[in-house]
Amino acid sequence: MSSMTTQGKCIVRGSINHDEYFFVDEITKPGETKSSKGHASRVGGKGANQAVAIARAGGHVQFYGTVGKDGEWIVEEMKGHGVDVSGILVGEEPTGRAIIQVSDDGENSIILFPGANHSDIHETHKASATKWFPGATHLLLQNEIAFTSTVESLIVAKDEGLHSVLNPSPMFSKDQIPRFPWEKVDWLLINEGEGNALLRGLSSDPSSPDLSETSIIQKLADIPAFKNTNIIYTLGSQGAMAYIPSLHSANTFRAPAAQLRGEVRDTTGAGDCFTGFFVAGIMQLDRYTIGKEDVERLLEVCNQAAGMSVDRPGTIDSIPTQEEVVSRMA
Ligand code: ADP
Ligand code: NA
Repeated sequence: MSSMTTQGKCIVRGSINHDEYFFVDEITKPGETKSSKGHASRVGGKGANQAVAIARAGGHVQFYGTVGKDGEWIVEEMKGHGVDVSGILVGEEPTGRAIIQVSDDGENSIILFPGANHSDIHETHKASATKWFPGATHLLLQNEIAFTSTVESLIVAKDEGLHSVLNPSPMFSKDQIPRFPWEKVDWLLINEGEGNALLRGLSSDPSSPDLSETSIIQKLADIPAFKNTNIIYTLGSQGAMAYIPSLHSANTFRAPAAQLRGEVRDTTGAGDCFTGFFVAGIMQLDRYTIGKEDVERLLEVCNQAAGMSVDRPGTIDSIPTQEEVVSRMA
């Protein structure tokens, strides 16, 4: 991994939001009206965050998402972040929006309106196209668009020979988990809460207690649908674990979190930063046979990138570049 100029192209089919921040002394209580001490509008949504993280990590990334007529500035910002925005469609509904109150002591309270993210115009437009993902080598999905859009995109991507990456965040509902085509996922990226929810959703014993991280990953690996799925399990301040079935023996290993320079400032988007750097990394690895050292080194890079996003404020703004990560690791 000497050069991070990736050869492939990753398409992110996901969410894009107008995140609207209101800075208040305390979160408003029912019936209360208060003035905001400040206001900011930023690009958000897990799909957009992860696309920007791929770009910062040096990967070629195109975004497939839907905004409303009010979303022109968001498309411009994404372009400024180095993302190919030619796949963004403008729909009838308004752009997805998050109304975020941030209090003086750092607490927040969020209202999420999915808006155009739940539109399926991408899938209906493409029904007549010869290819949904021309020129792409990888598809990255989350779970902030319509379930049917995620499922259809995954199925078509595998038909078109792409590598698929899924970060099911937030986790699918109890009804959706058993219906999801998990066997089509080449790389599954989950955090601890998602790992536990997924195992409960797929096991016959839905009441099982939260398990240790090693048992979670082993139990998921035992599920037939995950026979060929690489699983990356992020563990917050404990770093991350990997399960790589093709490695046979010693196929499960961990990488400790990065040493933070400062204190934990803002963990929002740490997982998105990790995911983006991970995808940019596998866009290189997939050209070769994957070795344990490659994945270990990649996890180290991702932990470092995510750690840097944690000790700086902001979400998209706190995602470091590949150069910053490499120089911090030197
Ligand atoms: P999510 O943000 O999706 O909940 P995690 O909490 O597992 O996911 O965090 C993702 C990654 O961010 C971790 O694998 C780790 O690299 C980094 N990270 C998160 N919290 C910390 C922390 N307190 N110290 C250092 N690194 C952290
Ligand atoms: Na941050």
